[in-house]
Amino acid sequence: MNKIVTVSAALLFAVAGMALASGGADLRLDPAPVHRLDTESLQRGARNFVNFCLNCHSARFMRYERLKDIGLTEQQIEDNLMFGTVRIGSTMTVAMTPADARNWFGAVPPDLSVIARVRGVDWLYNYFLSFYRDDGSATGWNNLVFPNVAMPHALWQLSGPNRLVSTEFDNHESALAAAIAIKGLASVEPGSGGKWHVRIVAADPDAPGSMTPVQYRTFVADLVNFLDYVSEPSKNKRISLGIVVVLYLVVLFVLVYALKRLYWKDVH
Ligand code: HEC
Repeated sequence: MNKIVTVSAALLFAVAGMALASGGADLRLDPAPVHRLDTESLQRGARNFVNFCLNCHSARFMRYERLKDIGLTEQQIEDNLMFGTVRIGSTMTVAMTPADARNWFGAVPPDLSVIARVRGVDWLYNYFLSFYRDDGSATGWNNLVFPNVAMPHALWQLSGPNRLVSTEFDNHESALAAAIAIKGLASVEPGSGGKWHVRIVAADPDAPGSMTPVQYRTFVADLVNFLDYVSEPSKNKRISLGIVVVLYLVVLFVLVYALKRLYWKDVH
């Protein structure tokens, strides 16, 4: 038995070591504070998405009409979220052609209908917190979570142009300990000569954004909440239905239990 444990432990370490060697950077993500059933957050997220993302990205599987599900009226959708000649029954598409996009950005902005299912909410949340100024890149921006991304930082006026801060450590353990102590997004990367780096994205004190860091995080959380909703709109219905079913069962249990007591009273 002991042998089996030793062998499997050795195997586990080997696999972990390989993962570390091949992946290089070890990303520690900040968990996304999103709540699917928070309709106010979803409404704010829809507004953020339409104003800041829809000029490049589409959400082809989402109809404007469906936004009624998050508590908006048809009038509110038409007045605040729809521009130009789109109709309430249309899907959220963009006017930009893929060829133009490739010319302008070198990559086509992907459709965001199911991006939350592909990347997960934590990744998305951290993606928007980790853009930073990089004069060496084509767009002038870079991203800690998605290195050399072709997307410019669409929200930089809100967050301010952040910068990358890198700290060097002598070994992996101390780098990891420092990254854990940060309690937020950090990347632990191997450097040359056995050194390790911890990289974080920090605000540039000389160039603050129009929002405070707390406001910006809420803005991003609302946006990610909306992207998560878009990737599976019917999930909210399932959750609400589930809650109703469980409540029904609880009430039923109380009644049935009372009935059982009543029946057995005479038997004893
Ligand atoms: C100026 C055009 C533009 C704007 C505005 C823009 N993006 Fe992008 N985005 C891009 C491009 C181009 C890429 C492709 C990057 C690549 O593949 O390197 C991209 C990539 C992404 C990705 C990564 C997709 C993947 O590969 O997993 C996400 C997520 C994303 N954008 C979300 C958003 C959201 C949300 C907004 C609104 C806040 C937004 N983008 C605004 C152009 C844009």
